[in-house]
Amino acid sequence: MSLLPEDIEQYVAAHTTAAPDFLDELERETKLKVLMPQMISGSIQGSTLAMFVHMMQPKSILEVGTFTGYSAIWMAQALADNGVITTVDINEELEDMVRNYIAKSQQAHKIRYVIGNALDVIPTLESTFDLVFLDADKVNYQAYYDMVFPKVRKGGFIIADNVLWGGKVAKEEKLKPNGEAIRRFNEYVHNDPRVENVLLPVRDGLMIARKL
Ligand SMILES: C[S@@+](CC[C@H](N)C(=O)[O-])C[C@H]1O[C@@H](n2cnc3c(N)ncnc32)[C@H](O)[C@@H]1O
Repeated sequence: MSLLPEDIEQYVAAHTTAAPDFLDELERETKLKVLMPQMISGSIQGSTLAMFVHMMQPKSILEVGTFTGYSAIWMAQALADNGVITTVDINEELEDMVRNYIAKSQQAHKIRYVIGNALDVIPTLESTFDLVFLDADKVNYQAYYDMVFPKVRKGGFIIADNVLWGGKVAKEEKLKPNGEAIRRFNEYVHNDPRVENVLLPVRDGLMIARKL
């Protein structure tokens, strides 16, 4: 999924804090047992997200797209002990695996795992969020962004994954629906006067927007 050449990617991984053993085990189990395992963030992005959490010091995080729990657990590990990460996923088949690794992480007291369609769940969430990580279906990125925006505190952050879409958003004129949705999302955020933004070329691209 990374856009870096293989040898550079290996060098970056070798010089970045590694995942704890149980998260490596979760990554291996995801690759062995779960459909589309490439959706997992991986250790470089996981440690990047954890570093953001250390830097931003959020108390309340929302993740849209739990998958097997990898990125949620990385962020939870960096979160203060009284912080909460709410993570939402529509796929109930992964519940046992997610709960198993949340238990192993010893971060269960910080993680609120909600199974459901994020389009239905987000409007029911009453918290204000310091950080939102969007990593679910790409066609709904803009809808998620608009839904969460009023719930993000001033100065808070929205981070969206896969915004380079394998580089295709920059290279190809005509894209399939997911790619077109990402391209529209990038334009939308970049032209949104309510935020300042950086498109960070980590792995498949992270759009970082700070609410003004
Ligand atoms: C790219 S994966 C998330 C990866 C995860 N954040 C990680 O880094 O390990 C995308 C997830 O979004 C979920 N998803 C897709 N559509 C959704 C929806 N409408 N509501 C909630 N989750 C959704 C999928 O079930 C899938 O598990």
